Amino acid sequence: MPSTAIIIFGASGDLTSRKLIPALYRLDVAGLLPPEAFIVGVARSAFTDEAFRTQMEAKVQEAMKGAGESWNAEVWTRFSSKLFYCAADAGQAEGMQHLKDWLTKKEGPNGGNRVYYLSVSPELYPQIAQRMGEAGMASDTDTNFRRLVVEKPFGVDLKSSQHINELLHDQFREKQIYRIDHYLGKDTVQNIFVLRFANTLFEPLWNSQYIEHVQITVAESVPVGKRGAYYDNSGVLRDMFQSHLLQVLTMVAMESPAKFQSDRLRNEKIKVLDSVHIPTPEEARKWLAVGQYKGYLQEPGVPSTSRTPTYAAARFEINNSRWQNVPFYLRSGKALKSRFSEVVIQFRCPPHMMFPLPPGQIMECNRLSLVLQPNEGIKISFQTKVPAVEGTRLQVRDLKFDYRTAFGDKSLPEAYERLLLDAIQGDSSLFMRGDEIERSWEIMDPYIEAASAKDGPVMTEYEIGSQGPATSDALLAEEGRKWQPLV
Ligand code: BG6
Repeated sequence: MPSTAIIIFGASGDLTSRKLIPALYRLDVAGLLPPEAFIVGVARSAFTDEAFRTQMEAKVQEAMKGAGESWNAEVWTRFSSKLFYCAADAGQAEGMQHLKDWLTKKEGPNGGNRVYYLSVSPELYPQIAQRMGEAGMASDTDTNFRRLVVEKPFGVDLKSSQHINELLHDQFREKQIYRIDHYLGKDTVQNIFVLRFANTLFEPLWNSQYIEHVQITVAESVPVGKRGAYYDNSGVLRDMFQSHLLQVLTMVAMESPAKFQSDRLRNEKIKVLDSVHIPTPEEARKWLAVGQYKGYLQEPGVPSTSRTPTYAAARFEINNSRWQNVPFYLRSGKALKSRFSEVVIQFRCPPHMMFPLPPGQIMECNRLSLVLQPNEGIKISFQTKVPAVEGTRLQVRDLKFDYRTAFGDKSLPEAYERLLLDAIQGDSSLFMRGDEIERSWEIMDPYIEAASAKDGPVMTEYEIGSQGPATSDALLAEEGRKWQPLV
């Protein structure tokens, strides 16, 4: 049986120790890594295998502790024997050759499968891919696969993403490339498919006849912290909207593929992205609210004159028959009241209301809330009759489903576990295809331009720990709607 090497470029980075190695460890504990798998950390600094293992041990312990999981030194010892380090400058031909020699020796005469994971600064993607190509490391061999996993951000706009795609395609076939959006690795995000397409209850109502509007929220309570230098060049529209929020929108809005299979699924995703209306500059300015939390300009690495939004709310339209006249409102921000991600499907009210409402009371129509994190669950809000001998008074109550109650406290795996396993097993369903990424940038570019335009939306300061800037509420209020509060 050939070996499978998982080669992580950027081994000294935060993602490797915080997410990738803990995820690989958990996969190993669950017996899901291929029997001959080994992991190679690649970075420029000189390290021994032992030193790398010790450093990773502390981080994995931390991750396990954070998740309330117990630590088993014996299991770690078994796992860490599969962990290696190769010091190499992968951007240079000699460095890549050194890695190639190292891998060839380790794999032995029969060679092995390889998953290359680029967890490096995005400017290095094309360079590293090119070095791999030149060293003859990119193409599948007759017996062994070569796969390339690429982290976000994938470009900064449509043009740069097209350029990166072209450069990667010079060395790798599209089928070999796995572009990560870790939101797709979240079980609650995948459950959107199941909820919609494995039940009869929701899908018949999932259209403009019954749905009034949709809200997608990804709120974070943490500020930018040490990531100021990266974040300030990116901002929330690039960091969160182009990737995570648009992916969630796609899953809420797409048609069902004939089979749950990678290309069929991604064909449907691209169809719905193709239907998302690209706003004119005026529309983008009108459909966008932006804000910065108080104190952002004092964060390390952030210029004191920065106009980078740490919060945005935006309106989207989907021009197809399912979603005609159903606005999708998306919002995301840092340093908000809570870490809270949710999809809200707001249904229309019954066409005729026979129960009189008390004066001043506004009818609340049915709402389906999919809480993606942290208290993962599903909630249906509906009207009930308040029990009474006299009269008919209505009150909104909820039907609730909670993942932890249903499946246990530790039931939800980390997104990276699922995605790494899929990449190792060659299932690209939960990865973004090149055309999807490009289309997402094409949708976001006008909003990003509007955010920095002189006559763009006013940059509004908001309090740390708040619901976000008032302009975000105004965006919906103008159309007679309001955000569901962050809880
Ligand atoms: C990343 C962004 O992609 O997602 C971060 O770069 C953000 O800025 C993170 O904090 C949020 O991920 P999660 O899984 O914690 O919601």
